[in-house]
Amino acid sequence: MAKKILIVSASPVKDGNTTLLIGWFCEGLGAGNVDIEIIRAASLKYKSNGCTACRSCQKIKEYECVIKDEASIVLKKMAAADVIVMATPLYFFGASAQLKLIFDRMFSLYKWDNDAGAMQTVLKGKTLALIASAFEDVGLDALKAPFCLTAEYTGMKFESLLIPNAGVSGAIKNNLEIKNKAIAFGRKISGKP
Ligand SMILES: Cc1cc2nc3c(=O)[nH]c(=O)nc-3n(C[C@H](O)[C@H](O)[C@H](O)COP(=O)(O)O)c2cc1C
Repeated sequence: MAKKILIVSASPVKDGNTTLLIGWFCEGLGAGNVDIEIIRAASLKYKSNGCTACRSCQKIKEYECVIKDEASIVLKKMAAADVIVMATPLYFFGASAQLKLIFDRMFSLYKWDNDAGAMQTVLKGKTLALIASAFEDVGLDALKAPFCLTAEYTGMKFESLLIPNAGVSGAIKNNLEIKNKAIAFGRKISGKP
């Protein structure tokens, strides 16, 4: 069966560094036995500006967000994916707000039993892959931490491609070294040698 790869592209810039990195990453994934879907987080229509902490998702048996909008559809796709790729520029030492909007609503993909101190999640066993770029060489480790910690907490395998010194949007277009790194990352995630 084809490996399902869901890519959340979370820069507001359509043709910037994040888009370039995703393109090269997909080149590395190759055409064989992968089912790739790319979602542009900045184009999604939301009914709420982030997780409302209503906790209604904890009272239903489905792993679904009760706020029915385009983000809840993405969350369903995450639950069905083998690999979730989050691609973001570094914005003030963290991920873009566009990504954070989705990331917090992944609360609905967990069920907590606080009395028993137990947690179950549909994310367990998947791979979380982070792709991030920054103008400078400071801050990508800070950006990476919440994704890495979440993967650890959740039982997901974590992989990352961090590109410092990428410059402004689109500046990496002719950078062969970065292109090859992104292609290699795609190959790694696809499981190819
Ligand atoms: C609002 C904003 C905040 C940024 N914050 C940082 C930052 O803290 N550190 C840094 O190195 N680059 C920062 N950058 C630069 C971007 O992270 C960098 O140019 C990135 O590669 C852009 O990716 P994109 O073209 O996909 O949007 C910022 C850019 C913007 C627009």
